[in-house]
Amino acid sequence: MDPVLRRGVARFTLSAARPIEPCHIVVHHGAVRDLPSLLDRYVAAPRYLVVADDTVAGLHGKQVVSVLRDSGHVASLLTFPPGETNKTATVWLGLVERIAALAPGRDAALLALGGGVTGDMAGFAAATYARGISFVQIPTTLLAMVDAAIGGKTAIDLAAGKNLAGCFHQPRLVLVDAAFLDSLPEHGLRDGLAEAVKHGAIADAAYLQDLEESAPAIFQREPAALHRLITGSIAVKTGIVQRDPMESGERALLNFGHTVSHGIELATGYAVPHGAAVAMGMVAEATAGELAGVTAAHTADRLRQTLATFGLPHSLPPGVDRDRVLAATRADKKARRGRVRYALIRAVGQAARTDDGSWTHPLSDDTVARALARMA
Ligand SMILES: NC(=O)c1ccc[n+]([C@@H]2O[C@H](COP(=O)([O-])OP(=O)(O)OC[C@H]3O[C@@H](n4cnc5c(N)ncnc54)[C@H](O)[C@@H]3O)[C@@H](O)[C@H]2O)c1
Ligand SMILES: [Zn+2]
Repeated sequence: MDPVLRRGVARFTLSAARPIEPCHIVVHHGAVRDLPSLLDRYVAAPRYLVVADDTVAGLHGKQVVSVLRDSGHVASLLTFPPGETNKTATVWLGLVERIAALAPGRDAALLALGGGVTGDMAGFAAATYARGISFVQIPTTLLAMVDAAIGGKTAIDLAAGKNLAGCFHQPRLVLVDAAFLDSLPEHGLRDGLAEAVKHGAIADAAYLQDLEESAPAIFQREPAALHRLITGSIAVKTGIVQRDPMESGERALLNFGHTVSHGIELATGYAVPHGAAVAMGMVAEATAGELAGVTAAHTADRLRQTLATFGLPHSLPPGVDRDRVLAATRADKKARRGRVRYALIRAVGQAARTDDGSWTHPLSDDTVARALARMA
């Protein structure tokens, strides 16, 4: 007899393959008009809960709810105050309580209409309400279109750091309509470009070059230039997520620039927007990679030049306490066994793996401190 059974211990193993649910991504100028038919096809539900921050609700919420109601769908709009400082447990709880008060069935679907803050928090509400209801991402910032709305990561921030409570919950549909960008201020466009630069930096030098050459057309919001920008980034991101949906390896690459950026965001009380912080973080991490002998010389300078093309910051703003930034990197989720691990690039367009195949590299605090010191 099995010795374990003899001691009266029963063991069970539940193993189920965990494929990611199919997520349909539609990128099309004016796509919001197709929302009802896309929902009927991919996310049919008796009731839709549209979640937006107050700013986006005022600008675009009525249009989206009208499109739904005019086509015979049942839709309610739920709002919350805008900004990263509201991506919190308190605001999330208020949201799920209001959803519960509407008593939707488990077959209702949630539509996250807005930037990355809305997508992350409303996505977390969809993942947690009634143990998970279907959801749809309708990104309205460039950052959310090229990055945050894709890949199924949802989260809220905790006092100890960004995105520390969250889970994977794939949207069934991501509807990307660049017409929403008409109301986005220019700094919002720049923030999104930081994540697009990240995609070029980790995987596609030709895409990065095209981005730089298209900068004037992008800032003019020419639909063709925006379409190339958005689809190029989504191609990089979906490729990586498809190969590693749960971030057990390659997906960590998408965190390039983010360990330092999260430190900057935390150390400044989120006064620096995410995209701008990512721009600074990429330069800092490329510099640290150069100091560690992982990244080729002049890579950080090359990134600085690209970021300058888009008016993105590439040095730390005055007054930022570098020690606090460094301390905050240690609270980051990517810290394992005491040493913080970084996703690094070998050169622009090329990821760096360790000799044993890992997608992240341990860097000492001293190396990161020296890189930050070069960014004053
Ligand atoms: N889940 C992911 O994979 C992922 C990836 C990247 C970033 N993120 C998260 O995304 C967040 C940053 O996203 P963000 O920069 O979109 O922030 P955001 O959602 O706060 O949007 C920025 C501001 O723009 C406003 N806004 C949104 N759309 C607008 C429009 N069309 N016109 C005018 N104003 C508009 C918002 O009200 C807000 O004030 C961060 O919390 C970051 O952690 C998540
Ligand atoms: Zn990011």
